Amino acid sequence: MDLQQEIARRRTFAIISHPDAGKTTLTEKLLLFGGAIHVAGAVKSNKIKKGATSDFMEIERQRGISVATSVMGFEYKDCKINILDTPGHEDFAEDTYRTLTAVDSVIIVVDGAKGVETQTRKLMEVCRMRKTPVMVFINKLDRPCKDPFDLLDEIEAELKIKVRPLAWPISTGPTFKGVYDLYADRLSLFFTEDKQRAEGVELDVKLDDPAIDQYIAPFTKHLRDDLELVEGVYPEFDLDSYRRGEVAPVFFGSALNNFGVRELLDCFIRIAPSPGVSHTEQRDIRPDEPKLTGFIFKIHANMDPNHRDRIAFLKICSGVFERNKSYLHVPSGKGMKFAAPTAFMAEKKSVIDEAFPGDIVGLHDTGNFKIGDTFTEGEKLRFTGIPSFSPELFRYIENADPMKFKQLAKGVDQLMDEGVAQLFTSKMNGRKIIGTVGALQFEVIEYRLEHEYGAKCRYEPIQIHKACWIESDNREQLEDFRKRKYNNMALDKRGREVFLADTSYALSLAMEKFPDIKFHFTSEF
Ligand code: G4P
Repeated sequence: MDLQQEIARRRTFAIISHPDAGKTTLTEKLLLFGGAIHVAGAVKSNKIKKGATSDFMEIERQRGISVATSVMGFEYKDCKINILDTPGHEDFAEDTYRTLTAVDSVIIVVDGAKGVETQTRKLMEVCRMRKTPVMVFINKLDRPCKDPFDLLDEIEAELKIKVRPLAWPISTGPTFKGVYDLYADRLSLFFTEDKQRAEGVELDVKLDDPAIDQYIAPFTKHLRDDLELVEGVYPEFDLDSYRRGEVAPVFFGSALNNFGVRELLDCFIRIAPSPGVSHTEQRDIRPDEPKLTGFIFKIHANMDPNHRDRIAFLKICSGVFERNKSYLHVPSGKGMKFAAPTAFMAEKKSVIDEAFPGDIVGLHDTGNFKIGDTFTEGEKLRFTGIPSFSPELFRYIENADPMKFKQLAKGVDQLMDEGVAQLFTSKMNGRKIIGTVGALQFEVIEYRLEHEYGAKCRYEPIQIHKACWIESDNREQLEDFRKRKYNNMALDKRGREVFLADTSYALSLAMEKFPDIKFHFTSEF
């Protein structure tokens, strides 16, 4: 086994989109190409069905089922590809943010008729913050779509990233003919007959070949004009700019019809980065260091109410992970071995003997792990770049059964470690405040506390607009701020200071009055 080689052939990425743009469909087609599944419809992804949005138990059940598809690994042309699935439902956006901390690149799916939508915009902000390389797949070209130049302008403006098309559509909707693959410089024809075929119809026909007419008439002139404009407007594709997260290559196609997907995948394995350097508070970690390092980016509760077992997802950052070898769980200082670490291959989980940087390993957890926990071969490291994001909704949480105080405390503690929501403790009165991204989480917490921990909670309203982590070099001003805003100060779970602003007006006023204080909307800055 050559560690360098194993690293070089790995591509770990996530597909993100606004719900319904086609993420699930694209994921499935990629798996078909990899031979990981054989028929469409085999993947029940993290997608939460529309009708189920008000029924959180159904959502949890679906999430339970989707453990196996949270990570989908497969081999394609000598590459080991790991797709990290993300829940489309916006109430679980925090899950998605965290998943993005474990990927080396991202594919964004945009609906060609709808263009850039809200959820995509938010997720792109996280990518931008982390400088994650992104590719864009404009989907549903078999339907009437916006003009491709307009779509590209929209992506540049809305997602705040430069674009460079690497494929170009030939008409859209009923007259959609195919795409011209600018990366491989050839024509790909749209083929509607066999939707399950994992092959496109690629022709070695170049743009200036008169024979092109027989395939794409009456759009030949249009295509030539478009491409002339493309070459004039967009600078040539630059690999380094893409890898630095400055330019997004753009592809067009129809995931449902399996069209344009191979072009995307083939280009992806060539240009997308393999696992790179990771950062810790102590030092930078190169993936080819011989000793294992990794961190937990996600914890998934088992949906069996009789067991509180969970699966922790470990991202390998360096070295080789081996089954039954003892590793240091840095936060507890304990050595731990895993007899049955799992890898995720499309539909199934299987026990593995080893894993390499870029891979995700599922570890059985009985409630000891937290998001962000580091594993090493002895070195005390703490990975950075796994921030919490300021929640959107807040409520006081109270114990509703005085006999079950301990159970409640334990349950809340573990659910927060799992990343279901964030907990803040008011400095003024010590009351506990839960912050979430979506309303659904409050129900999930209440339900799980009762069914998994035998505890009962009650919520009380609190008026909070945003939670901001604060810092300042100006000690005097910070002290003054703390005093004046005493009623609004709280501590997060790690004991960091947080300002809970009542309203957006109060927040902007505070920013104005205390210019030396920095207000952060993520816990890492
Ligand atoms: P998501 O994971 O991003 O939420 O989207 P998903 O793949 O589930 O796709 C959303 C809907 O869009 C699905 O239809 C899917 O079949 C359709 N779709 C995906 N790609 C294309 C495409 O290239 N062209 C067209 N015309 N449609 C596409 P649905 O009716 O909502 O769901 P289903 O019952 O077909 O699963």
